[in-house]
Amino acid sequence: MATMPVWRELAQPAEITDALIGLFEQRGDEKYSEVVTQIEHATQCAGCAIEEGAGEATVLAAFLHDIGHLLVNERDDDGEVRADFHHENVGARFLANWFDEAVTMPVQLHVSAKRYLCAVEPSYHDELSSASVHTLTLQGGPMSDDEVIAFEALPHLDAAVSLRRWDEQAKVEGAAAPSLDEMRARIIAYLTL
Ligand SMILES: [Fe+2]
Repeated sequence: MATMPVWRELAQPAEITDALIGLFEQRGDEKYSEVVTQIEHATQCAGCAIEEGAGEATVLAAFLHDIGHLLVNERDDDGEVRADFHHENVGARFLANWFDEAVTMPVQLHVSAKRYLCAVEPSYHDELSSASVHTLTLQGGPMSDDEVIAFEALPHLDAAVSLRRWDEQAKVEGAAAPSLDEMRARIIAYLTL
């Protein structure tokens, strides 16, 4: 396996972007689900955001929202995921080295947003994939009323909820999606602003 960059030493937009895209190139072929890889899931999710006319920060959040899965090994020796490594916190803290809250908050909240939507939209739960229902249980199940009130007061809530919906859609075998090269260009442009 290629060596990992020394992340905290990265400062220039091009080198940060190369390292992020490099992580997808190294680990993005791993399965996200039975039918899509991590790269397919990430780029399809970004594609949903682009299609809906989301702002650039939200597009990048959509692409990067599961990067925590690429930073840790969450599987037991038999390949099963049995513990919650809080990939949303891992990813958001990692991305906060270079990105603002408009990117990191939706990433951090995308798991809670599933628990939120299951509480406020019962039909949402029925549409979840079996893998999402499994992880929902690991993540604490639908939010309580108090948790819903606290969640609705958070910044970037709308982007987080949108991201959550795209997350569920971005699991389609062979679906059209932006290339890694397009995402590379978008990240460099955002970090250069
Ligand atoms: Fe996801």
